[in-house]
Amino acid sequence: MSSVELVPVTKGLQGVIEVPGDKSISHRSVIFASLSEGTSKITNFLTGEDCLRTVEVFRNFGVEIEREEDTLVVHGKGIASLKEPISPLNFGNSGTTARLMSGVLAGLPYFSTAYGDASLSKRPMDRVVMPLKEMGAEISGRQEASYLPLAFAGTTLTGKVHHMTIKSAQVKSALLLAGLLAEGTTTVIENGRTRNHTEMLLPQFGVEVSIEGSEIHIEGGQQPQASELRVPGDISSAAFFLTAAAITPDSELIIKNVGLNPTRNGVIQALELMGAEIEAVPHTYIGKEPVGDIKVSYSILNAITLEGDLIANLIDEIPIIALAATQAEGTTVVKDAKELRVKETDRVEAVAYNLNQLGAKVETREDGLVIHGPTPLHGGEVDSYGDHRIGMMGAIASLISTAPVTIKDKDCINISYPNFFDHLYQVL
Ligand code: S3P
Repeated sequence: MSSVELVPVTKGLQGVIEVPGDKSISHRSVIFASLSEGTSKITNFLTGEDCLRTVEVFRNFGVEIEREEDTLVVHGKGIASLKEPISPLNFGNSGTTARLMSGVLAGLPYFSTAYGDASLSKRPMDRVVMPLKEMGAEISGRQEASYLPLAFAGTTLTGKVHHMTIKSAQVKSALLLAGLLAEGTTTVIENGRTRNHTEMLLPQFGVEVSIEGSEIHIEGGQQPQASELRVPGDISSAAFFLTAAAITPDSELIIKNVGLNPTRNGVIQALELMGAEIEAVPHTYIGKEPVGDIKVSYSILNAITLEGDLIANLIDEIPIIALAATQAEGTTVVKDAKELRVKETDRVEAVAYNLNQLGAKVETREDGLVIHGPTPLHGGEVDSYGDHRIGMMGAIASLISTAPVTIKDKDCINISYPNFFDHLYQVL
């Protein structure tokens, strides 16, 4: 297994970087383009392992997808021209591929099977399988199709009203995609705001989606049309460098062209509440997505409580916010974040175990974390458990540790941020 030893820094971080394209938008762009009629061009596509899984899935359906570095050209021929995949579809480590594609596979008139790696095979699929079955989907697998591998019979789906019981953009998106392929109208009623990239991007591909408060409606039988788009920088990747600058004395970083969608920018709010000097100004829109530059400098931080609706807005950033909290004055509490336990790894346990290994004082709760700060970090070993965001949290912790930090299984960082270490060395 690959590991890397990172030594503490002797000066602040300085510079200007541009993080890779947004993971959620990259997945959606290739799905929508592959279902479309016509040639779509997607630039700044995230070439991390997860998004490339989604690309491979559609190549298995016979869609011609060319890739040159971070530009994809997708030659869509419409939903009706997709071909039945001849081999099982490999979702790798990608929860977004697994959930969103389940909606698509359930509604296409083909037989398909799908599997994932050891981590993905332990993550719950019943959250999408159950509502899809209510639309008429035939999906089979272990424990009533609660886990991958799964088999999809490909049946005619009927539109339905879904009342969401968990806050999950993946589930919402799976149901909207199934709705696109279903007969009649599908409505998803959210029980809290989650990232809205699916609803924002589908209209750019010519699909009508209507939104009334927390209700999203989609009419089945619409044929998406090709589009061109540039994927904004991923705020979830930027979060590692925002935190790095906020906790490392004498730092000032500018991160350019980051997506600032209000359903995703909770990390900026959290760092602001902690007293970080951070400024995020949208300067343009890509489609309906606001994009801007973020400037952040070192500050003395204070503890905060994160809970309620804000959690869905920063769910992927909790590991790195927890690291910031180890340097904040007082006790930081993270509540209502039970979903952390079913991510690429159990992130409640992984964050607490690794930060405590480095000298922090972190307690676990069923639905979150309690972090007592400030504590100096003394270095040691961080086990990423194959989870990209835990690996990057450990790498940023090394900057402020008094001795080196070794990251076990560093290669998992390629899942969402292939040039993470290049950027890290660039700002040191
Ligand atoms: C995502 C939604 C979130 C997030 C994941 C990406 C998406 O998951 O954690 O990294 O692209 O829709 P949930 O839908 O499980 O909250």
